[in-house]
Amino acid sequence: MKLFLDTAEIDEIRTAARWGVLDGVTTNPSLFAKVGGTYDGVLREICTLTPGPVSAEVVADDVEGMLREGRHFASLAPNIFVKVPMSEEGLEAIARLTEEGIKTNCTLIFSANQGLLAAKAGASLLSPFVGRLDDINEEGMTVIRELASIVEIHGLAAEVLVASVRHPRHVTDAALAGAQIASVPMKVLRQMVHHPLTDSGIIRFREDWQKAQTAAIAPEPSAVATARG
Ligand code: G3P
Repeated sequence: MKLFLDTAEIDEIRTAARWGVLDGVTTNPSLFAKVGGTYDGVLREICTLTPGPVSAEVVADDVEGMLREGRHFASLAPNIFVKVPMSEEGLEAIARLTEEGIKTNCTLIFSANQGLLAAKAGASLLSPFVGRLDDINEEGMTVIRELASIVEIHGLAAEVLVASVRHPRHVTDAALAGAQIASVPMKVLRQMVHHPLTDSGIIRFREDWQKAQTAAIAPEPSAVATARG
């Protein structure tokens, strides 16, 4: 499974890249609003930190506006994917951007049918929001399972990217459900690294190693006795 970071924070992206686990980045207006600067500037910098897909989201709600923003984002770097929210206008914009060779990520998907439509319009990435479905007492992972099966069964040229990930279990279940990508906040990526038994095991090995070092340099009792005469 590919792992993307769901953030516009440069330091977080640098850290995940250093760990060797980063396959791409997803941004959106809310994540960008947390970092400031210009969206173009942030996107350009992110695109230097990962060769993988970097999603930049349009905010226009008309087709021509989405196309204008999409073409602009695509001109910033070759690994930009234009993120387009699911809507009737969004489907048309995805279809026309695809015709122009611009890769798209359809976002704000909440049903398998929305994902199917986006794939048929030409979207390369399909982003169902598992956390927001769970928030309203729906089982978000059901949409992931259904959409991943539909993509698999019908050989659709799109990848399922699980978005709105809230905890590590979402990543495990999405991987088992057949999603190709999970885009996670840095907090969740860190939670995936740690396990209490790993952390306590590291400490114990270190303590036992130090005990062994101390024992190794400690004089033999017989040597001590002889020395004392
Ligand atoms: O990319 C979508 C993601 O950022 C939404 O996450 O936690 O606001 O549902 P959340």
